[in-house]
Amino acid sequence: MPQSLIPRQPVPALDVATLSGSRLTLVAGEASTFTLLVFYRGYHCPLCRTYLSELNRLHEEFATRGVVIKVLSSDTEKRAHRADAEWSLDHLDLGYGLDEASARSWGLYISTGRGSDLDRCRRTGTLFRTGCFPYPPRPDALLGQYPDHAFCQTALQRYARRHTLRSSQGLPGTRRSLMQASALQGAGLGFRRELIESLKSGVPKEIEFFELAPENWAGMGGKSARDLRYFTERYPFVCHGLSLSLGGIAPLDETLLRRIKAFMAEHDISLYTEHLSWCADDSHLYDLLPIPLSEKAVKWTVDRIKRAQDILGMRIGIENASYYVAPPGAEMSEAEFISRIVREADCLLHLDVNNIYVNSQNFGFDPLAFMDALPLERTCYIHVTGHYVEPDGLLIDTHGAEVIDPVWSLLETAYQHVGNIPTCLERDFNIPDLDALSAEVGVIARLQSGISPHQQKVA
Ligand SMILES: [Fe+2]
Repeated sequence: MPQSLIPRQPVPALDVATLSGSRLTLVAGEASTFTLLVFYRGYHCPLCRTYLSELNRLHEEFATRGVVIKVLSSDTEKRAHRADAEWSLDHLDLGYGLDEASARSWGLYISTGRGSDLDRCRRTGTLFRTGCFPYPPRPDALLGQYPDHAFCQTALQRYARRHTLRSSQGLPGTRRSLMQASALQGAGLGFRRELIESLKSGVPKEIEFFELAPENWAGMGGKSARDLRYFTERYPFVCHGLSLSLGGIAPLDETLLRRIKAFMAEHDISLYTEHLSWCADDSHLYDLLPIPLSEKAVKWTVDRIKRAQDILGMRIGIENASYYVAPPGAEMSEAEFISRIVREADCLLHLDVNNIYVNSQNFGFDPLAFMDALPLERTCYIHVTGHYVEPDGLLIDTHGAEVIDPVWSLLETAYQHVGNIPTCLERDFNIPDLDALSAEVGVIARLQSGISPHQQKVA
């Protein structure tokens, strides 16, 4: 049962009753038209009310673009009728009674319930978070997914706006441009201020999305805010956090999480990942340090990830980190530690293939065996980058050099295991010009198309 749906892979089957007396049915891997499938939380949720009302209002606009909207939840028939009547959803035929197994197969985040949420869980059964899944009419169906979409209150307008903007840039065909504009897929690049002017002159075709650190952008005003808005309206973005300190002993920074949640909603960003490390004690240490590989640390970190997910209302991705000193007293392997945390926290895996390579060389283990032991079925996102080799042979994960061949090979192997997961080129130092960066992003894109590093060199 997939925990995270993968773009271009078939979607799971679905069969629920709708208020019109028919059934909302999907057969796995089949779809007859371009469909936007929206899971909402339920009648109790004011955000869903706003969101579905907007969807109802935009119904015709989507229809003229050939998009069918399907909406469903775990609500009972009675609650779905109340939502339909009180929210005036005359263009939407609400599906109801979604069961937990189906929700899980679609990768929906399931809240553990706190406070008033818990009361609602008792009244309505399990509380599913929202999701939004556009998919084109092909057997390789899924286009993308937008967890907790209702929090993006103007997301539908941006969805249409991105489409319109990119269509007017001369991209071919309505459906193709809609796909390109909305889905997190393919190869991406770290979004850096140094690159903005070059990017404004034209984003190379190899770059399909951008990644940013929310700590560096949230709350910015003036030109920085305008520049960011220009790009988030046109391209998908990923938030990759730097300072949440998931394994740290200082209290979890819930203020930061709420700031990130608002930032993601403001810019219609649907994926947040963080390092499996710690970086704060009484104050920030400005480095990402390894967590002791102990039972106690598993439980501690799992609880913090669960809390972070409940605040954000979505699963987050956890990145395997690089490190230079192994913490003493290990009670399990690093791969087992990561697997335990990912499964017990019900979160996703953000795979960094360069970090695996750097650690494998510094500590003398087989990178392929290590990767194989990770919970790869939970992979939501991949990083690839270059590193620096010290005179004594120690590898330092600097993000300041070109990717080397063994790391490209590791990425190729990763794709063989997990499919074409969205992959970002990280480059934070010694930043070359956009042409050089897009050439490296192009290597990612060709690997995703099944062209090996060796074939790329021959070509
Ligand atoms: Fe990374």
